[in-house]
Amino acid sequence: MANEANNFQELISHCKEYGYIFQSSEIYDGLAAVYDYGQNGAQLKKNIRDYWWKSMTQLHDNIVGIDAAIFMHPTTWKASGHVDNFSDPMIDNKDSNKRYRVDHLIEGFTDELRAKGENEGKEADVLLASMDALLAKNDFAGLKKLIEDNKIKCAVSKTCNWTDVREFNLMFSTQIGSVAEESDTIYLRPETAQGIFVNFLNVQKTGRMKIPFGIAQTGKAFRNEIVARQFIFRMREFEQMEMQFFVRPGTQMEWYNFWKEERKKWHESLGIPPEKLRFHDHVKLAHYADAALDIEFEFPFGWKELEGIHSRTDFDLKQHQEYSRKKIQYFDNDLNEEGKPFGNYTPYVVETSVGLDRLFLTVMSLAYTHETWTKEDGTEDSRVVLKIPAKIAPTKLAILPLVKKDGLPEIARALMNDCKESFHCFYEEKDAIGKRYRRMDAIGTPFCVTIDHQTKEDNMVTIRYRDTMAQERIALADVKKLVLEKIN
Ligand code: GAP
Repeated sequence: MANEANNFQELISHCKEYGYIFQSSEIYDGLAAVYDYGQNGAQLKKNIRDYWWKSMTQLHDNIVGIDAAIFMHPTTWKASGHVDNFSDPMIDNKDSNKRYRVDHLIEGFTDELRAKGENEGKEADVLLASMDALLAKNDFAGLKKLIEDNKIKCAVSKTCNWTDVREFNLMFSTQIGSVAEESDTIYLRPETAQGIFVNFLNVQKTGRMKIPFGIAQTGKAFRNEIVARQFIFRMREFEQMEMQFFVRPGTQMEWYNFWKEERKKWHESLGIPPEKLRFHDHVKLAHYADAALDIEFEFPFGWKELEGIHSRTDFDLKQHQEYSRKKIQYFDNDLNEEGKPFGNYTPYVVETSVGLDRLFLTVMSLAYTHETWTKEDGTEDSRVVLKIPAKIAPTKLAILPLVKKDGLPEIARALMNDCKESFHCFYEEKDAIGKRYRRMDAIGTPFCVTIDHQTKEDNMVTIRYRDTMAQERIALADVKKLVLEKIN
């Protein structure tokens, strides 16, 4: 565990050093739990988003994508239940005044227990089961007692002097309108899903969509997370990739199981090993769900939620129908098993919801590798390499003339011009070739091509593969084709 923690710290430093992730407004000492993506991070994030978008909206012919606004009519959040229910049980330490989400405080304690040994690991399981049962019953007094009985301490004051457990709403609010008196309170959306629900009829009618069908969306969401930690795992401003799948009432469990498996397979298609993924059924269901689970990934700091699959019933559409006083129903003219038309009904919804930033962290924690080996002369060598799958790597190909003279840069530039329409390339002519390879390893570029004097004779180049460091000579004319084959 200590080693994993060190690796995680190294990964965070690496993300900064190589233009992946910066602390937001760093020159002003940063803003807690808010991050900016640098030149490589923004490209990787876009590639992951595009991969999701394509798999949802292009590879499924019954799913379409939309882009709804972040600001929504305030009644949206009353209808959705977020004004009344979107809160977490919190507890404050009276000595440090530090506030904790109750489940995070207890989970942090169980992580420490587990690190101590097998018996303590069993104790941790019992403790988590008790916590789940109390959370399911909203038993706040019981949760406080559980914390006190286990002598769980505040990380700052190191005392067990706790307040009662209370609920805090996680939505950010702001004002709309330029004059204070005319202004109204609106919320920064805490999930993108509501933009899909309020547009259900717009999309269904204009797209002539037939149930079952899905509406997908990617975009920013905001939550005033009290305990924001573990780098980009839990942020106050983050991005979601959500898909609401509208189905006939009564078929929701069938679709819930379908999307559960489909989404796990999708993660595996991104190179995540199956043994690093698992399902975790929710004990305490959100106010809108009749079944819910997390797809968890084994992050360097333990198993945590990566994606949520929720059977949201007809809750949201019915609520919006009631609050807007507009009929939100679907006319189903297909036949049921008895040969009768279904007629009008409110569709049920199965949702898949994955955090783009969490997926980014997943990809990076799998990719970050520190390798050491013994060279032929007996000395040690090492490198840090990001083994990002080629199809989502920010830069696909580095084009490196061996020297910056003798006509080699011209050949390299011509190759760059030929390839850059098709994929992202990087050109560099400075420094020894070994140094340039190492820099490309560190940002995760899967292929490097070196143009040398021999190229002028035989039109062949050296291609070097990031993960194996193997090199081979191939025809200059085949470079683009080879890279395209590998990234598609
Ligand atoms: N529409 C359903 C919904 O929002 P959720 O489980 O609260 O469900 C879905 O969130 C996903 O959004 C999570 O699985 C996680 O990947 C991501 N997510 C949630 N809160 C986050 C945060 N504070 N920072 C980063 N990602 C977050």
